[in-house]
Amino acid sequence: ASTLGAAAAQSGRYFGTAIAAGRLGDSTYTTVAGREFTMVTAENEMKPDATEPQRGQFNFGSGDQIYNWATQRGMKVRGHTLAWHAQQPGWMQSLGGSSLRQAMIDHINGVMAHYKGKLAYWDVVNEAFNEDGSRRQSNLQSTGNDWIEVAFRTARNADPSTRLCYNDYNIENWSYGKTQGVYNMIRDFKSRGVPIDCVGLQTHFTGGSSLPGNFQTTLSSFAALGVDVALTEVDVTNASTSQYAGLTQACMNVPRCVGITVWGVRDSDSWRSSENPLLFDGGGNKKAAYTSVLNAL
Ligand code: XIL
Repeated sequence: ASTLGAAAAQSGRYFGTAIAAGRLGDSTYTTVAGREFTMVTAENEMKPDATEPQRGQFNFGSGDQIYNWATQRGMKVRGHTLAWHAQQPGWMQSLGGSSLRQAMIDHINGVMAHYKGKLAYWDVVNEAFNEDGSRRQSNLQSTGNDWIEVAFRTARNADPSTRLCYNDYNIENWSYGKTQGVYNMIRDFKSRGVPIDCVGLQTHFTGGSSLPGNFQTTLSSFAALGVDVALTEVDVTNASTSQYAGLTQACMNVPRCVGITVWGVRDSDSWRSSENPLLFDGGGNKKAAYTSVLNAL
């Protein structure tokens, strides 16, 4: 196959990218993205500050722009994200306790109603753990330790047709505290029937040439709990070809690793642009890392 999406499809997987609504007028960007990818995540446009800027007043303008661009090209869309400590609208940042709990529930219901039946996946909860595996002390956590399962139960009721994911970074190394913290939560959810379908490993790699310890073991261990896994926001310092090949191979080796999404199209589109972490250079040309990924798919 000659594109990332077509190569991934040979094994029933997708290959995705983050898309920014503000770049859809850039024809180099849309040409590369439209050619290569089969899944799209809105980089910022479906986050709480974008979708509910005032309490109870939802705005889906830029999220829908991305949704329409993707689906008109036959791509699927991954929702990102419903409950997160960051990129909350101002009104939500100042809430706590039972009023924040209700606001979270209302937010999930409002956003999921709009996209009901349309999205392949939703990142229901993003980044809820500390590096040592304890819970992050956010305003959401202050509403009670059960806020994550409340979010997932609310999400399942709001749209039973979409797959519900927990998403986080630094959960790639199997020996790491945070990985174990998330793993224990997923195991607990599965044992108690809390609805959860997938774990997203953001996969923001920050140096070196080898993978975080036992990366593939992490993928297969999560999968063994009965959830799909995906690499959801991949970028790699200096686009190390060995790390890009290795993370692709690890996903390919795990049957329940359903797909890989890179966090942007060209290096110049990246939130880490100074590290040149993506598969296309600023001119939209394929980098060496592109070939290493394509060959591993
Ligand atoms: C980043 C975006 O790429 C930036 O444009 C924005 O300013 C901040 O958020 N983890 C996530 C993503 O789940 O939503 C973040 O995206 C990167 C880290």
